[in-house]
Amino acid sequence: MGATTKLLRWYRLHGRNLPWRRTRDPYRILVSEVMLQQTQVDRVKEYYRTWLKKFPTWKKLARASNADVIHAWAGLGYNRRALMVRDVARSVIEHGVPKTEVAWFAIKGIGPYTAAAVSAFAQKRRTLPIDTNIRRVLGRLLLGKPFAELKDDETIRSKADDFLPRRGAYYDVPQAIFDLATLICTKNPDCASCPLRKDCKAAKLFVSGRVQIPKRSIATARERKHRNKPFPDRIYRGRILKTVRERGQVSGRRLGQMIDPDFDKHLDQEWLEMMIDRLAKDGLVSYSRKIITLPKG
Ligand code: ADE
Repeated sequence: MGATTKLLRWYRLHGRNLPWRRTRDPYRILVSEVMLQQTQVDRVKEYYRTWLKKFPTWKKLARASNADVIHAWAGLGYNRRALMVRDVARSVIEHGVPKTEVAWFAIKGIGPYTAAAVSAFAQKRRTLPIDTNIRRVLGRLLLGKPFAELKDDETIRSKADDFLPRRGAYYDVPQAIFDLATLICTKNPDCASCPLRKDCKAAKLFVSGRVQIPKRSIATARERKHRNKPFPDRIYRGRILKTVRERGQVSGRRLGQMIDPDFDKHLDQEWLEMMIDRLAKDGLVSYSRKIITLPKG
């Protein structure tokens, strides 16, 4: 039996029942895929439901203000994505729903993963969306690399061509891989339970114990971080936005203490202003005369 058949058989028995798997609506697929980037499935389920209640269609979302979408996204992280999804909705209302992966990719804010995901999951295109899950699983299975990297994507894509069925299951194969990546082929994989252990080029390495499991991911290691602070800037930017959302407006002079109990007004002010500037540049806050508010529009 081929590896694809084994994977799909496993998926039929163990695949997760997830709300975005019950639709082929490009709008819903886009919302779920953007939310799923960097956020755990269980958390996304809640947000996905409330978001769709508030913004059930492209049209409803296209009309939403910056503050509306920033509030609805609150807690998901990577807040720029809320504005991005709304801007995609505006583009769809103006120009129609893109028909091809290339056309999705041409929209500002949509990367190669999202373009491929919407094409495959909503529009039945034969294409493989490669996110960290797919990269890890197929990097192991097809390339024998315990921890594949971004630069391996093109090799994975060409090797996966045989793995992706010619007809029909473009939807199920990547979805099955998401589940395998979460349930079995995790950072430290459970090869003994894996339906593909006999096909996998990396399983022997893991089973023999010759693989060192890295402590933290490459993505985390690359994040911007202030030298004296315990968390990456992303966490503090999230706190700034949360404070502004909850209070409506905040003075730049008081904000430091609110986001960081160890804030030092001499040493850390420049760092704080740099983060506020970045939020303002991303359209997430307005900053004028030392007062920070949510953006208008
Ligand atoms: N991760 C990215 N896309 C996903 C999906 N559609 N289901 C589960 N996990 C995912």
